[in-house]
Amino acid sequence: MVTLSSRVAKLKSSSIMEIAARAQTMKSQGIDVVSLAAGEPDFNTPKAIQEAATAAMAEGITKYTPAAGFLSLREVLAEKISRENKFPVSPEEIIVTSGAKHAIYLALQCLADEGDTILVPTPAWVSYRPMIELTGANLVPLPLFEEDGFRLNVDRWKGLAIPSSAKGIILNSPNNPTGVVYSAEELKKFVGWALQRNLWIMSDEIYEKTLYDGVEHVSVASLGPEVRNYTITVSGFSKSHCMTGWRLGWAIGNRELIQKMAALQSQSVSHVTSFVQWAGIAAAKLPDSVVDEMVKEFDSRRRYCMGRLDALSEYCTYTRPTGAFYFYVGFGKWLKPRGKNDLDFCKDLLMTHHVAAVPGSSFGKENFVRLSYANSQANLEKAFDRLEAFLKQG
Ligand SMILES: Cc1ncc(COP(=O)(O)O)c(C=O)c1O
Repeated sequence: MVTLSSRVAKLKSSSIMEIAARAQTMKSQGIDVVSLAAGEPDFNTPKAIQEAATAAMAEGITKYTPAAGFLSLREVLAEKISRENKFPVSPEEIIVTSGAKHAIYLALQCLADEGDTILVPTPAWVSYRPMIELTGANLVPLPLFEEDGFRLNVDRWKGLAIPSSAKGIILNSPNNPTGVVYSAEELKKFVGWALQRNLWIMSDEIYEKTLYDGVEHVSVASLGPEVRNYTITVSGFSKSHCMTGWRLGWAIGNRELIQKMAALQSQSVSHVTSFVQWAGIAAAKLPDSVVDEMVKEFDSRRRYCMGRLDALSEYCTYTRPTGAFYFYVGFGKWLKPRGKNDLDFCKDLLMTHHVAAVPGSSFGKENFVRLSYANSQANLEKAFDRLEAFLKQG
């Protein structure tokens, strides 16, 4: 008989992917569902990237590659990151991975041991917990508060007992689900707090290019050479270059860690698909204007959604997002008198009004719902009309 390992006993697939799949099934049954669940740009991958992949296939770039990725790709990335993220990176300090997700997975496997504690400012992206728990380590949340605009406020954690088993912390800016972008000042204070406790920092910067209102993205590793030594930076092309399905990301860290991650990659998936890596070189060389155009479109949708949410302020609260493409909306004042929670909310909204959204509790905070505006203007209008009807009726 086949019996499962204890390691995967509690493991579930991503709740976001499940909701998106449920919405897709309803659609295939002919139901007009609008999904605000998925965290992926709705634009197609830029043409130059598509063409680079097909040219690579035609030229025979279809064989095994080095586990850490083609040197030519790592060289281009090293140059781009050193310039744009403002910290020096060499190709040996980069591993190319199947999306940022696998970079985080590999890094955690190389950094966390059974019984360790990894701290995560929460609400936080849904996949951190299962990936941490697969290493045998525990996740301890560091609470973020809506009253603070979900910003990092280390003073809030003064009373918290940080276990001596704490090894590292995962930070995510621009943030999923809150859309908050941490400032240099805020990050410096936070980094001081983490380094005092001798914690490594995994900085998930996957939304680094999706910024609004003139805010700047600050890479944790750019805060100085000492901070750099404690930091693992994770990013990729999924969100910025509309390449979610291609699976192309990277991690940057010290050579010893990167070598171990490459060894683990070589013993599992080997490497990222050869022609996808080749397309990555084209992506890295794409002019900023291509990404800026998409961000401009997201911004216009963000503004539209803010207008609609402002008109619903008797039912909900939200923090103005300045990055990524999500609203983390508090529905406490609607839910509590009805004795419902965010899971009921999302289930009812989908079943009765055919709008898919992600329950906030998936990110570690109840009574919130994450709405993604990576969707067409027409769909957003339809979704908000339905959401408004749902709130007013019930
Ligand atoms: C915060 C965060 N980190 C990492 C990822 C993974 O990105 P990728 O598609 O590059 O694996 C996501 C995807 O939704 C995300 O939201």
